[in-house]
Amino acid sequence: MLLPNIKMKNKYFLTTIIILLVSFSIIIGSLTAKAMDINSNTKSVDKVLDNYKIAKEIYLENCSSCHLAIPPAVLPTETWKTILETTNNHYGVRIEGIIRFNQMLMWQYLKTYSRPLLINETEPKFIAQSRYFFALHPNVELPSPVTHNSCLDCHPKAIDFDYRTLKE
Ligand code: HEC
Ligand code: HEC
Repeated sequence: MLLPNIKMKNKYFLTTIIILLVSFSIIIGSLTAKAMDINSNTKSVDKVLDNYKIAKEIYLENCSSCHLAIPPAVLPTETWKTILETTNNHYGVRIEGIIRFNQMLMWQYLKTYSRPLLINETEPKFIAQSRYFFALHPNVELPSPVTHNSCLDCHPKAIDFDYRTLKE
């Protein structure tokens, strides 16, 4: 019985080390990005993208199994926060298996790539209620109501999280 115990301990130890390393590199990374921001305006965008790469992958891993992964920019920061905090009742279903550390990473990613609501503005629950979604679609004739099911009609590569490529 001793051997399996030791194995378990090793596993947890390793996981802890990995988690520490990852968080450390993210912190250092974002500090570097901040420093670069001050020095140069042109390169900072790509730097930030690099630093949030892991967080974005975690987001795609956790949030694209039941529906298309929804780009952060289409909903306000507050809505993303609510979603991450209420995974036990997510639009009537339960999202299983999100560990706290990944929840934090996803929050960093979603927060960075979305905008907050104005004071006193109602928090939208659905894309169809979000003014940010409509702001990204000026003069686009959208289906009504617009849901995550309709994105693919115009964004044929949305499955690869590519919302830039449009249908010819
Ligand atoms: C277990 C399946 C499941 C997982 C995993 C899941 N969702 Fe959902 N999500 C749903 C369902 C069901 C709806 C309700 C819409 C529908 O009926 O298709 C929904 C709706 C949404 C909506 C509103 C879409 C709209 O059309 O307005 C957002 C935003 C959303 N999910 C974000 C997320 C995020 C962020 C994650 C990861 C943390 C996630 N979802 C993971 C099942 C899931
Ligand atoms: C009727 C077609 C149509 C539908 C449906 C549609 N889009 Fe779009 N989307 C567009 C067009 C066209 C643009 C480019 C608008 C512009 O730049 O003027 C765009 C732009 C975007 C952008 C900005 C892309 C970038 O990085 O420049 C995002 C993000 C986006 N759409 C997300 C979504 C999501 C999420 C859905 C589903 C909820 C959706 N769209 C549904 C046509 C559509």
